[in-house]
Order: sequence, then structure tokens, then C-alpha cells
Amino acid sequence: MTMYDLDSLARLANAIYRQSLPAAALNETAVKPGLPEQLIPAPAKPSKASSPDPPAEPDLRPEPSYYFLTRNPIKKSADPNNLTATSGRDVNAIRQDFPILKQKINGKPLIWLDNAATTQKPLPVIEAISGFYRESNSNVHRGIHTLASRATAGYEEAREKVRRLINAAAPEEIIFLRGTTEAINLVAASYGRNRIHSGDAIILTAMEHHSNIVPWQMLRETTGVQLRITPITARGEVNLSEYERLLSRSTRLVALTQVSNVLGTINPVRTMIEMAHYYGARVLIDGAQAIPHLNVDVQSLDADFYTFSGHKAYGPTGIGVLYGKKELLEEMPPWQGGGSMIQEVSFEKTTYNSLPYKFEAGTGNIAAAVGLGAAVDYLQKIGLAWIGQHEQELTTYVRTLLGKIPGLQLFGTAPLKAGVISFTLEGISQEDLARRLDREGIAVRVGHHCAQPLMKHYGIKGMVRVSLGMYNTREEMEQLAEAIAKIVKQLR
Ligand code: ALA
Repeated sequence: MTMYDLDSLARLANAIYRQSLPAAALNETAVKPGLPEQLIPAPAKPSKASSPDPPAEPDLRPEPSYYFLTRNPIKKSADPNNLTATSGRDVNAIRQDFPILKQKINGKPLIWLDNAATTQKPLPVIEAISGFYRESNSNVHRGIHTLASRATAGYEEAREKVRRLINAAAPEEIIFLRGTTEAINLVAASYGRNRIHSGDAIILTAMEHHSNIVPWQMLRETTGVQLRITPITARGEVNLSEYERLLSRSTRLVALTQVSNVLGTINPVRTMIEMAHYYGARVLIDGAQAIPHLNVDVQSLDADFYTFSGHKAYGPTGIGVLYGKKELLEEMPPWQGGGSMIQEVSFEKTTYNSLPYKFEAGTGNIAAAVGLGAAVDYLQKIGLAWIGQHEQELTTYVRTLLGKIPGLQLFGTAPLKAGVISFTLEGISQEDLARRLDREGIAVRVGHHCAQPLMKHYGIKGMVRVSLGMYNTREEMEQLAEAIAKIVKQLR
């Protein structure tokens, strides 16, 4: 049943759990086609994990260990994000990996254009989850029996994959949580309540998702911290001079999205982080909409906190990540108490576990973590450089097609966008439009997209949103534009 010897896996599991895993950092210098120079990540700073100096401890992990993932392992390329990854991908072959895309909706082939809400899952992710439950299910970090060791190894291997994906310096900087929302709430509750006080300020932007607004408002209720909102430009970009004006020595934290879930704008987060650091402020990046589209290197960005959700990146729901710089996470108190997060408990006193477990109270979504690991493998197999380029081509194409439809107004015209196109259409309610598109098998989202302040900025209640993934095609863009044009004709 196994690809690897189970006994050796069992022996290795506890070591994997306890130790910092030695791992060569991936080369994260992939070029992002079309991005201006200031947004192309510099080569990663040498990190402890990538340092050639200390003689590397033997890497005891079975390599590569796809046991938890699939019976038909994906072969990782040596450098999944290199330039050659921008060529030679066949979108129709990729689509074969996504069983859900093969179905018909209302008699028409499904066209899934709601990827910013959630992405569909490739077979290796589906198989990793079902394989885990079929063959490896156990709680983690709690037993010495074989299944406990196997499950623990799978869980920790997923953490290491995430670490490599975002080039964190160490696996203990990766906290598994339910998703972006929970990650931001953790930072607000733990870092916020202890480090942010009355008289301090937090800077947000006008394009934030509710999950990067409400936790800070809740913090304001308990601390009296001020919230300052960076406005956006007519093109839907952060107004950098206003941002600079808002920054001051009283700014404790900047919380901003890397990619807008409504406008698709890719924000110049590296520059904004540098500006915030100049004033001594920490920065949290909401990466929920960035991870499925861009190479992200948290060390190169110098992000203090970075958050994302598995399900928007082809992984399962119920699993997400908080990255934090180790020195920050070390000084932060736990936010939830319970099993796993403790070292020793008595009725008089409790001491807490080390990172990352200090922030992982209770049983997490183990199968989902394993599924997320498989999603990371899949993203890297396809290559984020190719995905970014493919989606950018589709974005340009569909914007041109939609731009020709009378009465259709596009929002967000920033040159740097990641596969999200929002618009309004005169003469029809958004719900009606979405229903009619659904009859054609086309799934889009309408409404405020959990960004009501942004809707208020534009003076509207909602927008229609088309959001792209790696499996979308030019033909689908044409079918969408034709379907809308047909609806417009019927309205006349
Ligand atoms: N945040 C998700 C979206 O933008 C749900 O649709």
C-alpha cells in the first residue's frame, strides 16, 4: 500500500515534528512577465534555511514523500518557477486535472469564473484528502502509534511545503489556521491587544476586504486605536502620496491586501512595507488573492505578517496560513487556549508550547493541511510564472471584449491586475444578470464582494465580478462576452 516504508516513516515523524527541517530554499527569482521592475522580487535574502555554511543536517525526510498525496505522484520539476515554466503549458491538459470542470450546468459546459471566491480542486488535491482519510487518519503530535506518526509527518510536510512556497525562513513561522480571516483575527487579538494602544494608529486601504477591516475595528473598541484609510486613485490603485501622508511615528501597523478581490489591482506592497518600516510600523499583508496568481517571497517583501487561504489556491476549505516573523510570533501571547498549545498545565500555572504549536490550539484540519500541501505541489508543477502570464493575457483579452458591450462599465483600470474584472451593466439587476449567465453555465459573483466601503467609494451597491484561474481559456472569455452581449440585445 505504501510508496515508502511505513516503519521508517514512523521513526522519522517525531524528528520531523520536533526539528527545524533543513531544506534548500527554492530559487524564487522567477520573472513576472509584464511587471515593472520595482515589483519584481529581488533574489531572496540568504536565510538560515538556505545558508550553505553550517554543515546541513541530514535531511531525513523521504524525498519526495507523496505518500500522503496521491498514488500517482506529480513529479516536481527541479525549478518549478523558472522562466521555462512560462512556455509549454497546455490549458486543456490542465483542465483534465479538474473533474468538476467536465460537468454541464443547465445543459452547457461549466465556465467557472468565480475563482476569487474559491478555486476548483485538481485531482491530486482531492486524492490527497481522500487518501489521508483512507489510509493515514489520526490525530497529530499526540501518539506514538504508526498512524499518529504518519499523520504528523503529512501535516508537518505540508507546513514545509508552504514554507518553501512563500520562502519563509523557518517552518515554525507557518501557523495553520482556518483561513485568512482567522489569521488576521489572530494578529489583531494577540499582537494588537498587546502592542497597540490608545494614541496609536493602524493604516488600512480603501480596497480592503471586510476581513481586513472588521478585526481592526474590534481592536479599536478595546484599545481606542485610530484607523486611517488610504484612499485609492481613479484607476483603483492605492494613492501612495496619501499613504505617505498618513504614515507617522504613531503608526503601529499597516494592514493591506496584496491583490484586491474586487479590482484585481496588484498593490506595490514591497514599497509600502519599506515606507511603513521607515516609521517603525509593522505590516500585515492579506495575500488571499495573491497566492494563486503571483510568486510570493515573504523575506524579499520583508512582510511582518502574511496571510492566505488554501481554498483560493486550489486547496481545500478550512485551512489557511498565518506567516509571521519568528521574533514577532515569539513575543506574542497565544490567543486560544487548549490542547497542543501547552507545554505543562497545572491549576496554578500553564506554560506554552513553542512555535508554531503555541498558536494551534485544539485539533486542526489535518486532512486539509495535507490537501494544501498537494495544492502547493500542483501550483509549483504548473508554475506561477506561467499562471500569472496566462491569466494576464486572459484579463487583457476579456477586458477588451467586455469593453465593447454598450452600457457595461469596467472598474479598476490599473495596469497591474491579477485576473479579476468587475463591472456594472445598465438596464438589468446584477442578480438577474448572474441568473441568466448561470443558464449558460457561466458562474460569476455579484454583490458587494465583502468590500462595502469600496462600493461606497464608487457610489454603488455592487458589481458583477469575473475572476480567473489557471484553467480558464480564451474561448470561455468569448463565450462570456457573447452571453452578455446577447442579454443586452434581449433587453432592448
Ligand atoms: N473573499 C471571497 C471573495 O472575494 C469570498 O469572493
